Amino acid sequence: MWIDSRHQEAIERAALSIRHNMKKVSGDHWRPNYHISTEAFWMNDPNGFSTFKNEYHLFYQHHPYSAEWGPMFWGHVKSEDLVFWEHLPIALAPSEDYDLDGCFSGSTIEKDGFLYALYTGNVWTGNDQDTDLRQTQCLAVSEDGVHFNKSSKNPVISSAPNGDIHPHHFRDPKMWKHGDDYYCVVGSRTKDQQGQALLYRSKDLIDWHFMNVMAKSDGQLGYMWECPDFFHLDGQDVLMISPQGMKPKDYRYHNLHQAGYIQGKLDYETGMFSHGDFRLLDYGFDFYAPQTIQDFQGRRIMVAWMAMWESEMPEQKNNWAGAMTIPRELTIQDNEIISNPILEIEKLRENAVQYKNITVEGEHTFNQISGDSYELEVIIDAQASLTFGVKVRKSEALNQETLLMYNRAESLLELNRDRSGSGPKGSRVVPVKLHDNKLCLRIFIDKSSIEVFINNGEKVMSARIYPDQTAKGISFFSEKEITLIKFQKWDLNKSV
Ligand code: FRU
Repeated sequence: MWIDSRHQEAIERAALSIRHNMKKVSGDHWRPNYHISTEAFWMNDPNGFSTFKNEYHLFYQHHPYSAEWGPMFWGHVKSEDLVFWEHLPIALAPSEDYDLDGCFSGSTIEKDGFLYALYTGNVWTGNDQDTDLRQTQCLAVSEDGVHFNKSSKNPVISSAPNGDIHPHHFRDPKMWKHGDDYYCVVGSRTKDQQGQALLYRSKDLIDWHFMNVMAKSDGQLGYMWECPDFFHLDGQDVLMISPQGMKPKDYRYHNLHQAGYIQGKLDYETGMFSHGDFRLLDYGFDFYAPQTIQDFQGRRIMVAWMAMWESEMPEQKNNWAGAMTIPRELTIQDNEIISNPILEIEKLRENAVQYKNITVEGEHTFNQISGDSYELEVIIDAQASLTFGVKVRKSEALNQETLLMYNRAESLLELNRDRSGSGPKGSRVVPVKLHDNKLCLRIFIDKSSIEVFINNGEKVMSARIYPDQTAKGISFFSEKEITLIKFQKWDLNKSV
């Protein structure tokens, strides 16, 4: 029933490639300290995020032969606490006729003590990346959570269903269990290029039956929905999607592709999902293909790829590319998803500094408070100031800084990386209301990234930044007096 075949050989060859190149990568000052990244070469989407035998497992799209995207493997890390991660052998490698050009994104689920992976087998049938491809859904199983065998029944879903469904773009199955049955949602598009999500049901993870088009674009939600995820949270059903090709609208959708959610109710009889409007999960530059799990404590936890397709990635010249976000705990408040860093991240805190009630007018640099791997929490009382903010990864000598600026007249927070150093530039803004005239920011800096949790997770902005390694300053600025009611900083330290 299960075959090993060429798979193991392909894994071993890839492992050699990684081993030979790890050293070159490890000295790079842009390598994340506490975020997941590869030991060498390329990573994109999180895959198969799961709990298995008391540990967290996270797989990811991986190209173990270069720092560019190529035929996809599944890289693998595991953890007991979502903070300290251990690299494990590659889990899936392209090796069979049905997945020769890539083991694309998918999910895992535990059943009867085994970990099952459902992923997309990708095969190019010609040179046109849009039409010359065959995508099918394939199953692999593992007893120890590390070594996977592919099913001899593959592909278990051998073609897209009939109807108004594009025959080629059909990928990224995410499984879950409801009652006695297993379900999976697959990313797809209509024949005339509208994103949609397809729902399947199975009793055994092998025989899958198409139920319905669960949801689809109303014409505004892009030409393809990648990496769907579905879960129940705080009384709501949530469908997360990564739509390609949405047009920019006001402050939203300025990245090449988007990642967000629609929420409502799934009818498990008809397979139809009735839902409200699309909302983003992150308002920065680098956030895509998020995937979630429900963990041992019942929390809903999300990880996303902290990068963006076709964005400049200066780390590629140092033989690696991509990172994951901090795992974020999701809750729903007032009908919207709130994201906050998992509590466990506080384990990394050291060298605490704390100030209270500091008045700032003009620009104030905190001498001796600096860094490139830290958490900063600040509550700012805006008083009568119309603009104010914080600069991180700052170097006066090099004229570098990453800027967060609040504009009171427009109630907008701006994240600007025009002067962040190497790499991509630009700014993103997000509407943010002050609460009692106060703005609360929790900022996570890690070598080549910034994640900003605004007003206890109401909004989040994530970005890759590539400053010089000497750019470590922190300063606050305001046009009139503001008060830093609380200002705390911790270095965050560990090596993955
Ligand atoms: C999303 C995506 C998926 C696909 C994978 C390939 O970033 O395009 O749809 O499975 O990446 O690496």
